Amino acid sequence: MIKKCVIPAAGLGTRMLPITKAQPKETVPVVHKPVIQYVVEEAYLSGIKEILIITGKGKRAIEDHFDRSELLNKSHYLEELEIMLRDLDIFYVRQRDPKGLGDAVRYAEAFVDDEPFALLLGDNITNPPCTRMLIDVFERYKASVIAVEEVEVSRLSHHGVIKADKVEKGVFRVEDLVEKPKVEEAPSNLAVIGRYILSPKIFEYLKKVGVGYGGEIQLTDALREMCRQDGLYAYLYLGKRYDIGNKLEWLKANVELALRDKEIGEEFKKWLKTLILNSFK
Ligand code: UTP
Repeated sequence: MIKKCVIPAAGLGTRMLPITKAQPKETVPVVHKPVIQYVVEEAYLSGIKEILIITGKGKRAIEDHFDRSELLNKSHYLEELEIMLRDLDIFYVRQRDPKGLGDAVRYAEAFVDDEPFALLLGDNITNPPCTRMLIDVFERYKASVIAVEEVEVSRLSHHGVIKADKVEKGVFRVEDLVEKPKVEEAPSNLAVIGRYILSPKIFEYLKKVGVGYGGEIQLTDALREMCRQDGLYAYLYLGKRYDIGNKLEWLKANVELALRDKEIGEEFKKWLKTLILNSFK
Protein backbone atom coordinates (compact mmCIF):
# COMPACT_ATOMS: atom_id res chain seq x y z
CA MET A 1 0.00 0.00 0.00
CA ILE A 2 1.21 3.49 -0.84
CA LYS A 3 0.78 5.73 2.20
CA LYS A 4 3.35 8.46 1.56
CA CYS A 5 3.42 11.17 -1.02
CA VAL A 6 6.06 13.74 -1.97
CA ILE A 7 5.10 17.03 -3.65
CA PRO A 8 7.99 19.10 -5.01
CA ALA A 9 7.03 22.77 -5.02
CA ALA A 10 10.34 24.61 -4.82
CA GLY A 11 10.85 25.56 -8.48
CA LEU A 12 11.31 29.19 -9.54
CA GLY A 13 8.29 29.30 -11.85
CA THR A 14 9.97 31.65 -14.33
CA ARG A 15 7.49 30.78 -17.10
CA MET A 16 4.71 32.23 -14.92
CA LEU A 17 6.44 35.57 -14.26
CA PRO A 18 5.45 38.20 -13.23
CA ILE A 19 2.63 36.30 -11.41
CA THR A 20 5.29 34.34 -9.53
CA LYS A 21 7.44 37.35 -8.62
CA ALA A 22 6.08 37.42 -5.07
CA GLN A 23 3.77 34.37 -5.08
CA PRO A 24 4.61 30.67 -5.35
CA LYS A 25 3.53 29.12 -8.65
CA GLU A 26 1.84 26.38 -6.61
CA THR A 27 -0.54 28.87 -4.97
CA VAL A 28 -1.78 30.37 -8.24
CA PRO A 29 -5.59 30.01 -8.19
CA VAL A 30 -7.60 27.73 -10.46
CA VAL A 31 -11.29 28.63 -10.01
CA HIS A 32 -11.77 28.39 -6.20
CA LYS A 33 -8.51 26.86 -5.03
CA PRO A 34 -4.73 27.18 -5.33
CA VAL A 35 -3.12 24.55 -7.55
CA ILE A 36 -1.39 22.78 -4.66
CA GLN A 37 -4.74 22.11 -2.98
CA TYR A 38 -5.86 20.11 -6.04
CA VAL A 39 -2.63 18.12 -5.76
CA VAL A 40 -3.09 17.42 -2.04
CA GLU A 41 -6.73 16.40 -2.71
CA GLU A 42 -5.56 13.98 -5.40
CA ALA A 43 -3.16 12.36 -2.92
CA TYR A 44 -5.88 12.17 -0.27
CA LEU A 45 -8.38 10.56 -2.67
CA SER A 46 -5.74 7.95 -3.51
CA GLY A 47 -5.43 6.80 0.10
CA ILE A 48 -2.31 8.77 1.03
CA LYS A 49 -1.90 9.56 4.73
CA GLU A 50 1.40 11.43 4.92
CA ILE A 51 2.57 14.18 2.60
CA LEU A 52 5.95 15.88 2.34
CA ILE A 53 5.90 19.19 0.47
CA ILE A 54 9.29 20.37 -0.76
CA THR A 55 9.31 24.15 -0.51
CA GLY A 56 12.02 26.78 -0.73
CA LYS A 57 12.69 30.50 -0.83
CA GLY A 58 9.52 32.59 -1.28
CA LYS A 59 7.19 29.61 -0.79
CA ARG A 60 5.88 30.27 2.70
CA ALA A 61 2.34 30.87 1.39
CA ILE A 62 2.09 27.13 0.72
CA GLU A 63 2.53 26.31 4.42
CA ASP A 64 0.16 29.10 5.43
CA HIS A 65 -2.51 27.71 3.12
CA PHE A 66 -2.63 24.39 4.97
CA ASP A 67 -2.70 25.97 8.44
CA ARG A 68 -5.97 25.95 10.36
CA SER A 69 -8.05 29.01 9.51
CA GLU A 70 -9.85 31.33 11.92
CA LEU A 71 -12.49 31.88 9.22
CA LEU A 72 -13.67 28.26 9.01
CA ASN A 73 -17.38 29.01 9.41
CA LYS A 74 -17.24 31.74 6.75
CA SER A 75 -16.68 29.44 3.77
CA HIS A 76 -17.78 25.90 3.01
CA TYR A 77 -14.61 25.55 0.90
CA LEU A 78 -12.54 26.13 4.04
CA GLU A 79 -14.62 23.60 5.96
CA GLU A 80 -14.08 20.96 3.25
CA LEU A 81 -10.35 21.65 3.32
CA GLU A 82 -10.29 21.34 7.10
CA ILE A 83 -12.08 17.97 7.00
CA MET A 84 -9.45 16.61 4.60
CA LEU A 85 -6.57 18.02 6.64
CA ARG A 86 -7.79 16.21 9.77
CA ASP A 87 -6.92 12.93 8.01
CA LEU A 88 -3.54 14.00 6.68
CA ASP A 89 -0.13 14.70 8.15
CA ILE A 90 1.66 17.32 6.08
CA PHE A 91 5.40 17.86 6.54
CA TYR A 92 7.67 20.42 4.91
CA VAL A 93 11.30 20.51 3.94
CA ARG A 94 13.13 23.31 2.14
CA GLN A 95 15.26 22.73 -0.93
CA ARG A 96 18.24 25.01 -0.29
CA ASP A 97 18.76 25.90 -3.92
CA PRO A 98 16.35 25.11 -6.79
CA LYS A 99 18.81 22.92 -8.71
CA GLY A 100 16.19 20.84 -10.48
CA LEU A 101 13.42 18.32 -9.83
CA GLY A 102 15.93 15.50 -9.24
CA ASP A 103 17.65 17.55 -6.54
CA ALA A 104 14.29 18.42 -4.92
CA VAL A 105 13.29 14.74 -4.70
CA ARG A 106 16.55 13.95 -2.90
CA TYR A 107 15.25 15.93 0.09
CA ALA A 108 12.51 13.31 0.57
CA GLU A 109 14.82 10.40 1.39
CA ALA A 110 14.49 10.49 5.19
CA PHE A 111 10.70 10.96 4.99
CA VAL A 112 10.17 8.13 2.53
CA ASP A 113 12.46 5.77 4.47
CA ASP A 114 12.20 2.36 2.85
CA GLU A 115 8.74 2.42 1.28
CA PRO A 116 7.49 2.96 -2.25
CA PHE A 117 5.91 6.41 -2.50
CA ALA A 118 3.85 8.63 -4.75
CA LEU A 119 5.48 11.67 -6.33
CA LEU A 120 3.11 14.39 -7.55
CA LEU A 121 4.40 17.61 -9.09
CA GLY A 122 2.96 20.57 -7.21
CA ASP A 123 2.08 22.54 -10.34
CA ASN A 124 0.07 19.91 -12.23
CA ILE A 125 -3.63 19.08 -11.97
CA THR A 126 -5.10 15.81 -13.25
CA ASN A 127 -8.82 15.29 -13.71
CA PRO A 128 -9.93 12.57 -12.92
CA PRO A 129 -7.12 12.04 -10.38
CA CYS A 130 -4.33 9.99 -11.93
CA THR A 131 -2.57 8.73 -8.79
CA ARG A 132 -5.17 6.10 -7.83
CA MET A 133 -4.82 4.53 -11.30
CA LEU A 134 -1.02 4.54 -11.02
CA ILE A 135 -1.20 2.79 -7.64
CA ASP A 136 -3.30 0.02 -9.26
CA VAL A 137 -0.63 -0.53 -11.93
CA PHE A 138 2.11 -0.47 -9.27
CA GLU A 139 0.29 -3.16 -7.28
CA ARG A 140 -0.12 -5.37 -10.35
CA TYR A 141 3.44 -5.11 -11.68
CA LYS A 142 5.28 -4.64 -8.35
CA ALA A 143 7.56 -2.08 -10.00
CA SER A 144 7.86 1.68 -10.24
CA VAL A 145 5.40 3.29 -12.62
CA ILE A 146 5.14 6.73 -14.20
CA ALA A 147 2.18 8.39 -15.91
CA VAL A 148 2.47 9.46 -19.55
CA GLU A 149 0.17 11.10 -22.07
CA GLU A 150 0.16 11.33 -25.84
CA VAL A 151 1.50 14.68 -26.98
CA GLU A 152 1.49 16.38 -30.39
CA VAL A 153 4.83 15.66 -32.05
CA SER A 154 5.67 19.37 -32.35
CA ARG A 155 5.37 19.74 -28.53
CA LEU A 156 7.59 16.78 -27.59
CA SER A 157 10.70 18.91 -27.13
CA HIS A 158 9.04 20.49 -24.04
CA HIS A 159 8.69 17.16 -22.22
CA GLY A 160 10.45 14.07 -20.92
CA VAL A 161 9.68 11.37 -23.51
CA ILE A 162 9.78 7.57 -23.11
CA LYS A 163 10.86 4.74 -25.38
CA ALA A 164 8.64 1.81 -24.45
CA ASP A 165 7.04 -1.51 -25.37
CA LYS A 166 3.35 -2.08 -24.83
CA VAL A 167 2.60 -4.88 -22.33
CA GLU A 168 -1.17 -4.46 -22.15
CA LYS A 169 -3.75 -1.84 -23.07
CA GLY A 170 -2.51 1.43 -21.58
CA VAL A 171 0.58 -0.05 -19.87
CA PHE A 172 4.15 0.00 -21.25
CA ARG A 173 7.53 -1.31 -20.14
CA VAL A 174 9.92 1.64 -20.31
CA GLU A 175 13.20 1.03 -22.13
CA ASP A 176 14.59 4.53 -22.05
CA LEU A 177 13.71 8.15 -21.28
CA VAL A 178 14.95 11.37 -22.85
CA GLU A 179 14.52 14.83 -21.33
CA LYS A 180 13.24 17.42 -23.84
CA PRO A 181 14.44 15.67 -27.05
CA LYS A 182 14.63 17.37 -30.44
CA VAL A 183 11.41 16.51 -32.28
CA GLU A 184 13.27 14.33 -34.81
CA GLU A 185 15.03 12.42 -32.01
CA ALA A 186 11.97 11.76 -29.81
CA PRO A 187 11.61 7.98 -29.28
CA SER A 188 7.76 8.11 -29.10
CA ASN A 189 4.90 10.57 -28.63
CA LEU A 190 4.49 9.55 -24.97
CA ALA A 191 5.43 12.32 -22.56
CA VAL A 192 5.97 12.10 -18.79
CA ILE A 193 3.29 14.09 -16.90
CA GLY A 194 4.38 14.60 -13.31
CA ARG A 195 2.73 11.65 -11.54
CA TYR A 196 4.89 8.75 -10.36
CA ILE A 197 4.91 5.77 -7.98
CA LEU A 198 8.55 5.10 -7.17
CA SER A 199 10.55 2.56 -5.26
CA PRO A 200 12.95 4.10 -2.69
CA LYS A 201 15.80 2.87 -4.91
CA ILE A 202 15.34 6.14 -6.81
CA PHE A 203 17.47 7.83 -4.09
CA GLU A 204 20.42 5.56 -4.90
CA TYR A 205 20.22 6.60 -8.55
CA LEU A 206 19.69 10.27 -7.73
CA LYS A 207 22.95 10.23 -5.76
CA LYS A 208 24.80 9.02 -8.84
CA VAL A 209 23.41 11.39 -11.47
CA GLY A 210 25.27 14.60 -12.17
CA VAL A 211 24.05 17.86 -13.59
CA GLY A 212 21.96 17.13 -16.68
CA TYR A 213 19.74 18.93 -19.19
CA GLY A 214 19.54 22.71 -18.61
CA GLY A 215 22.25 22.57 -15.91
CA GLU A 216 19.78 20.94 -13.47
CA ILE A 217 19.73 17.62 -11.64
CA GLN A 218 17.13 15.73 -13.62
CA LEU A 219 14.78 13.11 -12.21
CA THR A 220 14.66 11.69 -15.75
CA ASP A 221 18.34 10.71 -15.51
CA ALA A 222 17.72 8.72 -12.31
CA LEU A 223 14.62 7.11 -13.86
CA ARG A 224 16.72 6.02 -16.83
CA GLU A 225 19.04 4.21 -14.43
CA MET A 226 16.02 2.70 -12.67
CA CYS A 227 14.58 1.33 -15.89
CA ARG A 228 17.91 -0.34 -16.70
CA GLN A 229 18.45 -1.86 -13.26
CA ASP A 230 15.00 -2.64 -11.83
CA GLY A 231 12.42 -2.19 -14.56
CA LEU A 232 10.01 0.72 -14.91
CA TYR A 233 6.44 0.84 -16.27
CA ALA A 234 4.43 3.64 -17.81
CA TYR A 235 0.68 4.10 -17.57
CA LEU A 236 -1.11 5.96 -20.36
CA TYR A 237 -3.31 8.49 -18.59
CA LEU A 238 -6.37 9.34 -20.66
CA GLY A 239 -7.82 12.06 -18.45
CA LYS A 240 -7.11 15.77 -18.56
CA ARG A 241 -3.79 17.08 -17.30
CA TYR A 242 -3.02 20.76 -16.83
CA ASP A 243 0.50 22.07 -16.39
CA ILE A 244 -0.08 25.22 -14.37
CA GLY A 245 3.58 26.19 -14.83
CA ASN A 246 2.56 27.39 -18.28
CA LYS A 247 0.28 30.43 -18.73
CA LEU A 248 -1.82 29.06 -21.58
CA GLU A 249 -2.48 25.77 -19.76
CA TRP A 250 -3.32 27.69 -16.61
CA LEU A 251 -5.95 29.72 -18.47
CA LYS A 252 -7.37 26.56 -20.09
CA ALA A 253 -7.61 24.88 -16.67
CA ASN A 254 -9.54 27.85 -15.29
CA VAL A 255 -12.00 27.89 -18.17
CA GLU A 256 -12.60 24.12 -18.31
CA LEU A 257 -12.92 23.65 -14.56
CA ALA A 258 -15.05 26.78 -14.16
CA LEU A 259 -17.46 25.49 -16.82
CA ARG A 260 -17.95 22.33 -14.74
CA ASP A 261 -18.21 24.14 -11.44
CA LYS A 262 -21.45 23.68 -9.46
CA GLU A 263 -21.51 27.21 -8.12
CA ILE A 264 -20.52 29.37 -11.08
CA GLY A 265 -20.52 26.94 -14.04
CA GLU A 266 -23.91 27.77 -15.57
CA GLU A 267 -23.51 31.52 -15.39
CA PHE A 268 -19.95 31.34 -16.66
CA LYS A 269 -21.06 29.18 -19.60
CA LYS A 270 -23.72 31.74 -20.62
CA TRP A 271 -21.24 34.59 -20.40
CA LEU A 272 -18.60 32.68 -22.37
CA LYS A 273 -21.10 31.77 -25.08
CA THR A 274 -22.08 35.43 -25.54
CA LEU A 275 -18.45 36.47 -25.56
CA ILE A 276 -17.59 33.92 -28.26
CA LEU A 277 -20.65 34.71 -30.39
CA ASN A 278 -19.85 38.43 -30.24
CA SER A 279 -16.22 37.90 -31.12
CA PHE A 280 -17.22 36.11 -34.39
CA LYS A 281 -19.69 38.83 -35.49
P1 UTP B 1 9.36 22.93 -13.50
O1 UTP B 1 10.06 22.01 -14.41
O2 UTP B 1 8.09 23.52 -13.98
O3 UTP B 1 10.40 24.08 -13.12
O4 UTP B 1 9.11 22.16 -12.15
P2 UTP B 1 10.18 25.45 -12.36
O5 UTP B 1 11.55 25.94 -12.01
O6 UTP B 1 9.22 25.32 -11.24
O7 UTP B 1 9.50 26.42 -13.45
P3 UTP B 1 10.13 27.28 -14.63
O8 UTP B 1 10.71 26.29 -15.61
O9 UTP B 1 11.16 28.19 -14.03
O10 UTP B 1 8.97 28.04 -15.19
C1 UTP B 1 8.21 21.10 -12.00
C2 UTP B 1 7.90 20.89 -10.53
O11 UTP B 1 9.11 20.61 -9.82
C3 UTP B 1 9.33 21.55 -8.78
C4 UTP B 1 8.47 22.76 -9.17
O12 UTP B 1 8.08 23.51 -8.03
C5 UTP B 1 7.29 22.13 -9.88
O13 UTP B 1 6.28 21.73 -8.98
N1 UTP B 1 10.78 21.89 -8.69
C6 UTP B 1 11.46 22.22 -9.81
C7 UTP B 1 11.38 21.88 -7.47
O14 UTP B 1 10.76 21.57 -6.43
N2 UTP B 1 12.69 22.22 -7.39
C8 UTP B 1 13.43 22.56 -8.49
O15 UTP B 1 14.64 22.85 -8.35
C9 UTP B 1 12.79 22.56 -9.73
